Amino acid sequence: MGKLFGLLGHPVGHSMSPHIHNDAYRQLDLAHHYQSFDVPEQQLKAAVEGLKALGVAGFNVTIPHKVAIMDLVDEIDEEAKIIGAINTVVNKNGRLIGYNTDGEGYLQSLLTHTGERLKEMNVLVIGAGGAARAVLTVLDRYSVRTITITNRTLEKAEKLAAECVQNVKAETITLTQAEENLHDYQLIINTTSVGMSPNVEEMPISLENLRADAVVSDLIYNPVKTKLLLEAEKKGATAVSGIGMFVGQGALAFEKWLGIEPDRERMEQIVLQHLEGKHADR
Ligand code: ATR
Repeated sequence: MGKLFGLLGHPVGHSMSPHIHNDAYRQLDLAHHYQSFDVPEQQLKAAVEGLKALGVAGFNVTIPHKVAIMDLVDEIDEEAKIIGAINTVVNKNGRLIGYNTDGEGYLQSLLTHTGERLKEMNVLVIGAGGAARAVLTVLDRYSVRTITITNRTLEKAEKLAAECVQNVKAETITLTQAEENLHDYQLIINTTSVGMSPNVEEMPISLENLRADAVVSDLIYNPVKTKLLLEAEKKGATAVSGIGMFVGQGALAFEKWLGIEPDRERMEQIVLQHLEGKHADR
């Protein structure tokens, strides 16, 4: 019998997750189904209890539930505890285990662009929200050379540096300082929503002082190439879209649920087709 998987979020209408998972089930001839559920905050507890009672095999959790879900699972994986958020839940014989595949999904995607060079990089992280927490946790675990956090609200950056960066030398700077010192960084990561559709003309910082050999990574995947990435390419830098992170987190969730590695390249194509409005749903 096919298993049921799901996504809890609010809103979830535009999520790409059902597309990548359901397509992977079809490719593997599995009778499973992945369904998104639009769950308002006050209904999260009831929804999770319902999924548990129904014997749902696993589910993803997205905005705004990634932190609140932590109180509703039976066990939390170490990295999810450090990140302070869960995006993947596995139903193991009636016990709900919470994981975070966002950080590792991001790291794996980034490594396909930087390779081992990542260890030598001075990294600038823009933003200090939930997405930044996941990114900082894995960069610290991987031991990049240095981590600098910049954010519109500097206190939030300071809090994050103290909580998420243990192994690597870390500092915090203002957005203006970041723009002035941009030449110091080989890797620049935007974790804010600045530049996301429909605000595609916005950029979180100016890239005037960008090094030509830098890698600029944006967690945003709609648009596939944000203005930040387009400007980075104009300067000769390498641009890394957020699609890789999205597919990475989904593929890792898929592996946790089914013990099978899905075809990540195909998942990426599915996302691109949907973003371009070219995919015919079956
Ligand atoms: P997420 O969980 O997706 O990371 P979040 O927790 O709301 O979302 O964090 C959003 C991040 O984007 C924050 O770093 C926020 O800056 P503040 O801490 O100053 O709020 C940043 N951000 C959002 N909109 C911004 C804008 N217009 N300009 C600059 N930074 C912005």
